[in-house]
Amino acid sequence: MTVEGIRVSWGWLALREPADAAARAPDLVEHLRRHLPATGRRVIHDLGSGTGSMGRWLAPLLPGPQHWVMHDRDPDLLEVAAADLPGPAADGAAVTVETRQSDIARLHPGDLADASLITASALLDLLTEDELAGLVTVCAGTGCPMLLTLSVVGRVDLTPADPLDSRVAAAFDAHQRRTTERGRLLGPDAVEVAVEGFGRLGAEVLVRPSPWRLGAFQADLAAEWFTGWVDAACEQQVELAAETNAYARRRRAEATAGQLAVTVDHADLLVLPRRPPSTW
Ligand SMILES: C[S@@+](CC[C@H](N)C(=O)[O-])C[C@H]1O[C@@H](n2cnc3c(N)ncnc32)[C@H](O)[C@@H]1O
Repeated sequence: MTVEGIRVSWGWLALREPADAAARAPDLVEHLRRHLPATGRRVIHDLGSGTGSMGRWLAPLLPGPQHWVMHDRDPDLLEVAAADLPGPAADGAAVTVETRQSDIARLHPGDLADASLITASALLDLLTEDELAGLVTVCAGTGCPMLLTLSVVGRVDLTPADPLDSRVAAAFDAHQRRTTERGRLLGPDAVEVAVEGFGRLGAEVLVRPSPWRLGAFQADLAAEWFTGWVDAACEQQVELAAETNAYARRRRAEATAGQLAVTVDHADLLVLPRRPPSTW
């Protein structure tokens, strides 16, 4: 199946939104605040916005009037983003939203020309190397900061441990790096490739861990994540399905009962372009 055929469900994004908010690295927002224009309305382009969870998290942490432009290829998710708006800015200033249905792998520099900030969350690992290289060039060309959160890095930890965990993890990572008709997806390699790409263009890149830590209070998310994790691993390595039947049933029951602690490692990047903020 190609990635073009896969749609991210509203239900999955809603389930993960609180865990995403808890996981993103708060100190990068502190850095970011110092690199935004001092006055005026900030235009923030959120790439692969889904239902707009990045805006709902970040807009109230930033001061000043903000206009969010949410880009996604999925019109149904954008419809939710247009209805479920972020709260006001940190100082109470107005936050407005517009949505744009687009393929973010085919953005032109003009699409982001008015950006004061570019954001993305849970997106980079879904791209191919060429797509990410194109995005790096277009985004860096704007000269504005970029906050790119929650890219998977290929490390998960389940407690209590099970001997099958590492085989499933390896097959899942291979699934994330699978070849599609657009090319091979980056999966857990995306962070390294993005850091190198932005670095080559002279940008400073700050990297922070942003793990999901799921326990009894996030049992629904842990169970749903586990199901997707095993299913993807078995799709990648078909022979694994027979071996993981009992394992999957047992682990899912543990997760649902809040007896499985799951850490899914991610990384957040704050990209600061060469151009000093005083010139914006
Ligand atoms: C894992 S979801 C994350 C959504 C949102 N950023 C969040 O954190 O809740 C990835 C999103 O990227 C969108 N997406 C993936 N590739 C895209 C592309 N090439 N162009 C536009 N949107 C894309 C998907 O439709 C989906 O909404």
